[in-house]
Amino acid sequence: MTSPAARVASTAPEWLACVACGATYDVDEVRYSCACGGLLSVERPPGWAARLGPALFDARLASRADVDRSGVWRFREAVRDLPAEALATHPEGATRLYSRPALSDWAGIERLLFKHEGENPTGSFKDRGMAVGITQALRVGARAVACASTGNTSASLAAYAAQVGRPAFVFLPAGKVAMGKVAQTLAYGARGLAVRGDFDAALRLVTESCLRLGIYLLNSVNPFRIEGQKTIVWELLQDLHWEAPDWIAVPAGNLGNTSAFGKALREAHEGGWIARVPRLLAVQATGANPFYRSFAEGFRARHRVRPETVATAIRIGDPVSYERARAAIEATRGVVTEVSDDEILEAKRRIDGTGLGCEPASAASLAGARRLRAEGVIGPGERVVCVLTGHLLKDPDPARSAERALVEVDADPAAVEAAIAPWLR
Ligand code: F0G
Repeated sequence: MTSPAARVASTAPEWLACVACGATYDVDEVRYSCACGGLLSVERPPGWAARLGPALFDARLASRADVDRSGVWRFREAVRDLPAEALATHPEGATRLYSRPALSDWAGIERLLFKHEGENPTGSFKDRGMAVGITQALRVGARAVACASTGNTSASLAAYAAQVGRPAFVFLPAGKVAMGKVAQTLAYGARGLAVRGDFDAALRLVTESCLRLGIYLLNSVNPFRIEGQKTIVWELLQDLHWEAPDWIAVPAGNLGNTSAFGKALREAHEGGWIARVPRLLAVQATGANPFYRSFAEGFRARHRVRPETVATAIRIGDPVSYERARAAIEATRGVVTEVSDDEILEAKRRIDGTGLGCEPASAASLAGARRLRAEGVIGPGERVVCVLTGHLLKDPDPARSAERALVEVDADPAAVEAAIAPWLR
């Protein structure tokens, strides 16, 4: 069924442009970087965004067609402008915004909202970029797809590859991926390699292997992944009736999201969809903080670190989207901060304790916002949206603290009373 809102003329040509030297390539050329080594970005002619906008996207909220219900393809002319039949969709996105007074109190931010990307079909925001990446893989006739991953990208890749019937290969840092993500990836049918090394090594390896073996690479160096991830921001703006918040906080690892958010905000502002641009807050773990280090020095140098953090999703020492993310921070008067593992776990405990729940890396957004509020960078009346990037069950281990352990009892009411009475006091 095609909704009336789906009948919109193709808006603008798309091409790939190098973010470093500006060289351009055909949109359907299979390449992951420019001849100069720079990252690629999907671009359109000046003024394209102004021909689209809130009225079209809002009309689709009433549709029952999968491509309109998808929180990615609802924005399709601004993501990848193809006929609806060509779009791969679970559907994905359409995640909600939440407020939790207990978390507002804890962070000292009264106007605080959470966008829960753990509500995506495979439990993380990765499904948004993957819907677009797999669509493009089909379009270029890829025989197989692959990625390196700290676990969420691999689960998402595996699910979308299964849906469209293509083999998927995932390269995971050996021993450093949360169990829920490994189980999910394998259950969807992907073949996995445990690479002796960290994520950064796995990414270098998969990139080289894809070029050597003719497999389509679906890490966030792939510019179509970024196009899909823009919709996290557009959807939250839509849910705020296109009234931009003051800040959007996001955990930062490989910097795909930070880049995508910057591009989403630039395009929404240029198109007149929003009147002003929110500031981005990218939050890293102290043990995996190369982007923070660069920011703290005014981006004088790019850093690489040996990563270590309890938030394994963002255990990344050499983020591939550094240049695009730097541009995003600069264009939004953004800030990069770092938070310790203890701060991440405390924030996660609080988020879990309100019934929202998230995986450790996701809680970095709240920990970072709280820190910036304490430092006075976030003002008292400012409105902040924290993105929770992944579901609690992705990485259940840190939730199992001594304080939260099960108490084993005999099947006997007296034993139950003895166990529960202290908690009722
Ligand atoms: N939060 C979660 C839950 C993630 O899985 C990731 C990245 C991030 C935040 C950081 O996002 O890389 O765009 O800065 N996970 C990737 C993966 C690396 O392989 O699943 P980023």
